[in-house]
Amino acid sequence: MDMTEQIRSRRSVRTFDGRRLLPEDRARILEFAQSAGNPYGIGIAWKLLSAEDDRLSAPVIAGADTYIAGKMTRQPHAEEAFGYSFERIVLFAESCGIGTTWIAGTMDRAAFERAMDLGENEVMPCVSPLGYPSDRMSVREILMRKGIKADSRLDYSELFFERDFTVPLTEKRAGDLGNALEMVRLAPSAVNRQPWRVVLEEDAAHFYEKRSRGYVSGDGWDIQKIDIGIAMCHFACGLEDANRAFDVTVCDPGISVPDGVCYVSTFVLR
Ligand SMILES: Cc1cc2nc3c(=O)[nH]c(=O)nc-3n(C[C@H](O)[C@H](O)[C@H](O)COP(=O)(O)O)c2cc1C
Repeated sequence: MDMTEQIRSRRSVRTFDGRRLLPEDRARILEFAQSAGNPYGIGIAWKLLSAEDDRLSAPVIAGADTYIAGKMTRQPHAEEAFGYSFERIVLFAESCGIGTTWIAGTMDRAAFERAMDLGENEVMPCVSPLGYPSDRMSVREILMRKGIKADSRLDYSELFFERDFTVPLTEKRAGDLGNALEMVRLAPSAVNRQPWRVVLEEDAAHFYEKRSRGYVSGDGWDIQKIDIGIAMCHFACGLEDANRAFDVTVCDPGISVPDGVCYVSTFVLR
């Protein structure tokens, strides 16, 4: 599967054609999900749910009955791990002609958590509908996309830097990592905030989070770290497509950061 291609063609799908997901599509999504790992080695239990049978609702979604949801134990790096694994599934679904939308907020969360049998120390970060995209978006979907400028992304020079945060990176200077960084730029994020920042060194790419106000809950859960996990997944896809080997580590290089920016992870490039 050419991941770069899936990343370029993916968009959130909120209007589906009403057909139930075919049994063979259910089976291959679930099978893929079981193997969708993450660099943190954190396990996630995946389940397909039915809006009708499990009494679920997600107001922005029309014409889909099946949802996929994942739950995991609360632990350090849970957010990044979930973002990474779930985005792998999203891109796989895209390659099968199945539409998805990351949903963390616009759903009856209590109903989804009940259907997932969520335990005491567990979290179900996000869900997504799975279905066949309708030819036309609903008016609600069109307005929603406009409201959050879902079709636009920040410029390369605002997101990526060379050696430290004072030198914006140009696509030309990124050389053979240019495409992998472009994959990061195109990633989906909560309210399209695009909180990822990357500092490139000779043999390493350091991922940072530029925090927006109000996205960390009282218990320390940071939804924008899910976005960083998605960005890391896209970078990994770009590297894999270019046959570039890498390891992911968490080892802060100590680069001086602007206000509100914090270190998340490093891709060591081999
Ligand atoms: C972690 C996360 C949470 C999201 N939560 C919601 C949500 O609750 N409802 C919704 O309609 N879209 C949600 N989205 C989808 C984003 O709005 C969407 O990805 C972004 O606007 C970019 O649009 P695109 O996915 O079409 O490229 C979420 C996305 C992410 C990554």
